[in-house]
Amino acid sequence: MRKIGILTSGGDAPGMNAAIRAVVRIAHYHNIQVIGFERGWEGLINNSSRELDPRSVSGILQLGGTILYTSRSSEFEHEEGIRKAAVNIGLNDIEGLVVIGGNGSMKGALALSKETSSRIIGIPTTIDNDVSGTDETVGFDTAVNTAVIEVDKIRDTAVSHDRIFIVEVMGRNRGFLASMVGFTVGAEIILVPEVRFEVEDICSAIKENASKGKRSGIIVAAEGIGDTRALAKHIEEHTGTEVRLSILGYAQRGGSPTARSRYLANRFGNEAVRLLANGEGNKVVCLQNSKITSIDLAESCQATKPLNLKLLDLAKILAI
Ligand code: F6P
Repeated sequence: MRKIGILTSGGDAPGMNAAIRAVVRIAHYHNIQVIGFERGWEGLINNSSRELDPRSVSGILQLGGTILYTSRSSEFEHEEGIRKAAVNIGLNDIEGLVVIGGNGSMKGALALSKETSSRIIGIPTTIDNDVSGTDETVGFDTAVNTAVIEVDKIRDTAVSHDRIFIVEVMGRNRGFLASMVGFTVGAEIILVPEVRFEVEDICSAIKENASKGKRSGIIVAAEGIGDTRALAKHIEEHTGTEVRLSILGYAQRGGSPTARSRYLANRFGNEAVRLLANGEGNKVVCLQNSKITSIDLAESCQATKPLNLKLLDLAKILAI
């Protein structure tokens, strides 16, 4: 392996830069040249790239976002775009490609792997933590910590005003972020798309809490559950308690990666290059039971990562 490409794709996540830095420096250690493609798949389609050396990734370890920029490429969703990307991989003599991104990016990598002989390795980075095969994605821990800091502040107002707050967190159609945030802020109720709920049960729980002297509360809701504004209105009307909605939004995606996110980025970057140098490809690097490993790209794309429902049960007990 003499030359590899690297790109970041899909939603940015804290630790993407740390992963770029790790790949570039480990590759340099193995005498492998690294070409960075800009704006995700767009960079491959339009052949927009620059060489990355150890000095060009100085000072980025602690930065959120991605120095390679990113995009959600609509052209790459079509065969023509994927073919263009494959042609440019060949023209640039790219023998291996590191794709840094979430679920959608891994699916894109799988589609591209069918059109190129270049070996592809995915590094899972997303605040949603929804990539199958890995216990944790780069950026998840940072987003959890960002949200926790905000919910703790919101609780001050909830308690002072005897209010219920619904705090909506990201996560697309999965509840990994909501369940971890809810669990670690001591939320009275956690709502995730994976678990069906009745609004009337939420109202009853709030009334019961009030009768026990608990006059305020935090409901952490995943964005994937649907209309949280309507939910807030309904609960207010049916409990007689003031309800406010706070949507945390894109603040969860940015910021300096936590030590945990940087650690994972470094370990994943190292494993990605190790696999490529070993002649392996079409894999996603993973964390499983605290060990760095990898699974087939196709396997990761096909499976649905299970949510730990026991965590939600425990959260309920802890919030009595
Ligand atoms: O995948 C990360 C994520 O922030 C999701 O949590 C969210 O649903 C989505 O991206 C938002 O996407 P966009 O940046 O395209 O608005």
